[in-house]
Amino acid sequence: MRKNRQRISKQTSNRRAVSNYGADILDSASHKSCAEYIQHGDTSIRQHTISVAYTAVALARKTHLKYDYQAIVRGALLHDYFLYDWHEPHHGLHGYTHASIALHNAAENFAISPIEADVIKKHMWPLNIAPPRYREAMIVTLADKICSTKEVFGKPVRNHQVQEILDEYQ
Ligand SMILES: [Fe+2]
Ligand SMILES: [Fe+2]
Repeated sequence: MRKNRQRISKQTSNRRAVSNYGADILDSASHKSCAEYIQHGDTSIRQHTISVAYTAVALARKTHLKYDYQAIVRGALLHDYFLYDWHEPHHGLHGYTHASIALHNAAENFAISPIEADVIKKHMWPLNIAPPRYREAMIVTLADKICSTKEVFGKPVRNHQVQEILDEYQ
């Protein structure tokens, strides 16, 4: 399972890594529908998950370790794939339940590897007690917290590379 770990060549941008590994998800009608749901501030779930994928790839590369980058990108793009508006009052336990719902939806619509499943299922650690099993899940958990915090304070990770991904898969 871990044989897929590698480093990304210097010539490949973070944006290209996200586009290459996440193409089928980014191009799917269901992930595009996530643009209709707000995550934090004025950032949609679709924008949020692309920002998390981009940030997770950037963080992982800084560590100089080998990663399953496909799992990082696909897990990040699907980590909040719960497909409802969590601000509606009857989703009161959203913080605790949405990771499992996202994994259920992801497994129904896409081929999900065990590491990708761990990324999705564990991304709310430590709120959800079970810790990430793989370094890929730990990186996405960290990227999610960075992006979420910036979104809450009105400074989302939406640089030109994130915008290019949004433009490429309109
Ligand atoms: Fe989440
Ligand atoms: Fe998230």
